[in-house]
Amino acid sequence: MKKRILVTGGAGFLGSHLCDRLLKEDCDVLCVDNYYTGSKQNIAHLLDHQYFEIIRQDITFPLYVEAEQIYNLACPASPVHYQRDPVQTTKTSVHGAINMLGLAKRVKARILQASTSEVYGDPEVHPQTEDYLGRVNPIGIRSCYDEGKRCAETLFFDYYRQYNLGIKVVRIFNTYGPRMHPNDGRVVSNFIVQALRGEDITIYGGGQQTRSFCYVDDLVEGLIRMMNSPAQVVGPINLGNPSEFTIRELAEKVLRFTESRSKLIFMPLPQDDPQQRQPDISQAREKLGWQPAVSVDDGLKETIAYFKRLFG
Ligand SMILES: NC(=O)c1ccc[n+]([C@@H]2O[C@H](COP(=O)([O-])OP(=O)(O)OC[C@H]3O[C@@H](n4cnc5c(N)ncnc54)[C@H](O)[C@@H]3O)[C@@H](O)[C@H]2O)c1
Repeated sequence: MKKRILVTGGAGFLGSHLCDRLLKEDCDVLCVDNYYTGSKQNIAHLLDHQYFEIIRQDITFPLYVEAEQIYNLACPASPVHYQRDPVQTTKTSVHGAINMLGLAKRVKARILQASTSEVYGDPEVHPQTEDYLGRVNPIGIRSCYDEGKRCAETLFFDYYRQYNLGIKVVRIFNTYGPRMHPNDGRVVSNFIVQALRGEDITIYGGGQQTRSFCYVDDLVEGLIRMMNSPAQVVGPINLGNPSEFTIRELAEKVLRFTESRSKLIFMPLPQDDPQQRQPDISQAREKLGWQPAVSVDDGLKETIAYFKRLFG
């Protein structure tokens, strides 16, 4: 019997790569998405697959299906998208989590939550370990996402304590790769798109703020390892690439790999933009035997190749 797996947000950037990988591992995959930020193009190559199904549905409404494992990825992830309809963003995280946890409880499925490094807010400790409680503004423009994801984590742990549900929580740090949305304002896609179009590369602030970037294949490997880890491993566990770059260094790499003549220009930092973000992945190493394998240079080259194809 093939394992029946539900992926919410399966038509999005990470979700579509996860569906690819699960099908390669001989699973029966049901993808649920309302195409808020995802696209049919991301999963078009899977539509003829015998063990792939898609349901168009908003997870803020209950869903009645059968599954043995649920990966809950549905939620817009980039600030431009999650700030477009902040109330819906909170609903997706909170009502969505309640619905998916309720489903997992009914059908006795194991459920994994795609949480985020944003639960750490603008951190005072560096790198961030899972026991750091975070510094999040509850009333800012990022709060719909940050606090929504924090509340979803609370729900996961309450279902675990109250109902002994099989939960898994991962906190994902910046991930990039093919199928990122070209206009989502995330730094890697922004820089690549601007470089390929020969437009100025926009750096917010002085470019000295740092980020760590994990390639999508590494991240998907981490999700699958977490889902299939022993029951007592519930998380939260950080998944990300600890090698850190300044935003300026990233822009310079993109310029080099695209052979672009774009210029770097500097704009004011948006509200609540964190200065530093770097995962401590000791727990992922120890409990999942996981660490990123793809170098930033290789990952960037793959991503640039994707955007070149996309733009013809
Ligand atoms: N990409 C990253 O760097 C990153 C970092 C941290 C956390 N995450 C988390 O991983 C998950 C996937 O992120 P992504 O980068 O693939 O984003 P994405 O925006 O590409 O994918 C999200 C998917 O969820 C779908 N969706 C949104 N609201 C929905 C709803 N109410 N009902 C059904 N479907 C809905 C969208 O249409 C889209 O297909 C998100 O939960 C995000 O918070 C991603």
